Amino acid sequence: MSIFRKKSVASLMAMAADNEKGLKRTLGAGHLVALGIGAIIGAGLFVRTAAASAEAAGPSVTLSFVVAAIACAFAGLCYAEFSSMIPIAGSAYTYAYATMGEFVAWIIGWSLVLEYALGAATVSIAWSEYLNNLLGGIIPYQWCHSPFEATAAGVHGIVNLPALVILLALTLLLIKGTQESASVNAIIVFLKVAIVLLFILLGWQFIKPANHTPYFIPADAPGHLDFYQHGWGGMVRGAAIVFFAFIGFDAVSTAAQEAKNPKRDMPIGILGSLIVCTILYILFSHVLTGVANWQEFADPAKGKEASVAYAIKTYMPQFAWMTRLVTLAILAGFSSVILVMLMGQSRVFFSMANDGLLPKVFSDLHPKFRTPYKANWILFVFVGTFAAFIPGSVAGDLTSIGTLFAFMLVCLGVIIMRKTDPDHPRPFRTPFVPLFPILGMATCGYMIWTLPNDTKLSAFAWMVAGLIIYFTYSKSRSKLNQNL
Ligand code: ALA
Repeated sequence: MSIFRKKSVASLMAMAADNEKGLKRTLGAGHLVALGIGAIIGAGLFVRTAAASAEAAGPSVTLSFVVAAIACAFAGLCYAEFSSMIPIAGSAYTYAYATMGEFVAWIIGWSLVLEYALGAATVSIAWSEYLNNLLGGIIPYQWCHSPFEATAAGVHGIVNLPALVILLALTLLLIKGTQESASVNAIIVFLKVAIVLLFILLGWQFIKPANHTPYFIPADAPGHLDFYQHGWGGMVRGAAIVFFAFIGFDAVSTAAQEAKNPKRDMPIGILGSLIVCTILYILFSHVLTGVANWQEFADPAKGKEASVAYAIKTYMPQFAWMTRLVTLAILAGFSSVILVMLMGQSRVFFSMANDGLLPKVFSDLHPKFRTPYKANWILFVFVGTFAAFIPGSVAGDLTSIGTLFAFMLVCLGVIIMRKTDPDHPRPFRTPFVPLFPILGMATCGYMIWTLPNDTKLSAFAWMVAGLIIYFTYSKSRSKLNQNL
């Protein structure tokens, strides 16, 4: 049985038609853009902007956002083509099953675990950071940091408890099936965007040009000797770090079955949320690195944690009263991102188990709540382990690698599908195929290349584990195999 066996687009559409009985088509273009922004703005902006600037890019982190946005735009165009062409609740995993066959779909599904599960872990670690800031730092360092982190005084972390608590709360919510209703999402999105705009508008007058000079980290800056830690190289690694901030626009594609007019609105939802976020990110990073100096973001005693709160408190004293409100809004914003990620992950597991590639336990539904509760619990243990014991930057880089890899395969899928199924109606067509998808693969591939070697090695080990599971378990149990 070939590992490249495919699901036909027709059978996917038939499945979707079946499912439609249960799903209401209520979302318009505006809702989809809001859904995208709800999933996108989070730790990437409020935590990793400062980290990227301290570790690699300095003030040029603003350019890093431009580079990351260009890579996402290519991938976003490819996602838009797929989601308007196969408008069913899936994701890159489903698209791959139809275009490149089961083996590639498995690899994408396996990479999506890095994206969604580790993404949720990363944001829960950021949540812990901002919660502690809100509480005035009363949680002892050991109980809100991983064992791989230490203070300058040599106090080591033990376990990140607040990160576990928020994951547990959201897991329970997901199991109960309390849908994040459109109105709750709308309120959180409104809050998030308002905070970002407020920071940009108020912070603009506090920008000190000296903080933006030199614009790139100089080659002789201590601790920045590596090619990807200063100058243009640092700016590109910065892009790979802040790439995390864009993750989530692909989540719009999972709502395809709930869209009123998916053919027109999916591309608007995906590309619209991407454009709005890109503009906000560029302005925000320009202001943040102008208000505080990038070097302060490396200092645990200064702005290494909860950088936005630090910048407001330290350099915008008239607005210090705002810090708490900003932090609260950021915490709410993080929660919605974690929720979408956990939900996305359980949906991907659910589809993979339905296809026979994962054990049935991942698709068992709760007798009362009709949610994949066992998958949610397994996920909690898995995500919780990372959140409790791994530093946020490590989890974040792994998330980025998994997502970048999935994006590359989606770009490749568009090229393949144009050859294998040229006549299928495409309400939205990615322009300049194959040039744009190739550029998407090249930019995403280059960003992977600039990430630290141990991150690449860990991701490689994860993929090898995936291959072993596929060949020893999934391949023979695949439903497609049995049907044929
Ligand atoms: N883009 C999401 C965030 O920044 C994952 O938190």
